[in-house]
Amino acid sequence: MEIKPYTPISEKYKPLINSRIREVTTSPFRPTYHIAPPCGLANDPNGLCYVNGKYHVFYQWYPFEAKHDMKHWNHVSSKDLLSWDEESGILIPDEIYEKNGCYSGNAYVDQKTGKAYLYYTANYKKDDGERIPQQALAVMDKTGKIEKSRNNPIIKGAPENISVNIRDPFVFEEDDSLYMLLGAEDKDHKGCVLLYKALDFEQWEYDGVLEIELNNKPIDLGIMVECPGIILGKKDVLFLSLIGSNLESIEHVNRFDSIALIGQLDLKEKKFKATSLQTIDFGFDFYAPQPFYDKDKNPLFFGWFGSANEELPEDQYHWRHALTLPRNIVIEDGILKTPVHPTIKERFKVIELKDKPDLFESSKEPTLLKWNIKYDNQIHSLKVGSEDDYWELIIDYPNNKLYIDRSNLQEVIDPDYGMIRELPIEREDLNIDIFLDNSFNELYLNNGEKVLSFRSYEKNLY
Ligand code: FRU
Repeated sequence: MEIKPYTPISEKYKPLINSRIREVTTSPFRPTYHIAPPCGLANDPNGLCYVNGKYHVFYQWYPFEAKHDMKHWNHVSSKDLLSWDEESGILIPDEIYEKNGCYSGNAYVDQKTGKAYLYYTANYKKDDGERIPQQALAVMDKTGKIEKSRNNPIIKGAPENISVNIRDPFVFEEDDSLYMLLGAEDKDHKGCVLLYKALDFEQWEYDGVLEIELNNKPIDLGIMVECPGIILGKKDVLFLSLIGSNLESIEHVNRFDSIALIGQLDLKEKKFKATSLQTIDFGFDFYAPQPFYDKDKNPLFFGWFGSANEELPEDQYHWRHALTLPRNIVIEDGILKTPVHPTIKERFKVIELKDKPDLFESSKEPTLLKWNIKYDNQIHSLKVGSEDDYWELIIDYPNNKLYIDRSNLQEVIDPDYGMIRELPIEREDLNIDIFLDNSFNELYLNNGEKVLSFRSYEKNLY
């Protein structure tokens, strides 16, 4: 059955979707603890929240194929962040104002009513392809029923000097008022973040561009900011995903960068004053992280375990990508660390690499490899896979580098962006945790000081 571009799911397509879902269950590379689409393509995490006793995770979803097209919000829920149930309440772009998809956004939970307000971008393209910027609202009640606002789109058009590329609302509360960040491109083709203030859940006033400074100097935000997100605390943390950034202080490992700025949000001055800027993940496959709070009010995030448009081996089974494991947001001495959420470790089979083999035979079983290395100014290596088909972790103390090298895998992925990723290390003992979840790998250095996400498709996983 041929699906025309920008087709939303409806009753008519249920049999097709169900047969795709059946095919996906027999696909290799399916993760156990990473949230993956039942079929079709997943990208950004959306609407993350803990409400009425459950975690809710939505994500950008094209249901029909492993490609980017009409985006829905698929929806899963969980009590423990480990086993996830598909929910029927999803966002389907079936209104005219969102005829090109329900794009990314977040959730604001009203603790008094137990309702989750889901803010998203109603993607609308005119016949000539130009966008009309619009933001929309859907409300999830206590029973899980989701209804779109009758006043949608609740924000229309672009402020002065801002282009039509405005998206990915992130709503947060400060001093009993609600604010919204939006990612944008200005008319000089520079990335920027817009600030709005709520009069109520549906009425928003434009407050201006949020200036973003690192040590009192404005920073380069590329040509477009996507998926802004903020966590407020003793130190505030601002997440930004950037297209076309030339920031000097970070490594540009992928097509696009996701960065964290640590500092202070000043709403009166409309400034984020950062004292530190960090790459959130050094891997091949990571973008668009979204922060929220767990049931104990600790901040955490999920990211998209994928990047731009690469084609992947699972495409032939009609699915692509997943989300990362949930990671806590911890600030220590002004620096961001992102350890995996503690519940996750409980379920992986733990293997301590004390007498480390040269080669660890990978398998489909979710496995946590733990490797403690004593500093000795030597080069250490671990291969994962099989004799002629493996990826390699290299600790290069003399050069202060840790490498993940995918060049000895038979299944080559996205070669245009290189086979090796690296991150800086100190000359000290290292503690490395590697979560292997059937083609989805996450490496945590020193309990989340630095993290690296990467896919691999060894023969062992077929
Ligand atoms: C980031 C992004 C968002 C947009 C969504 C569309 O990956 O481009 O800016 O809302 O994906 O799927």
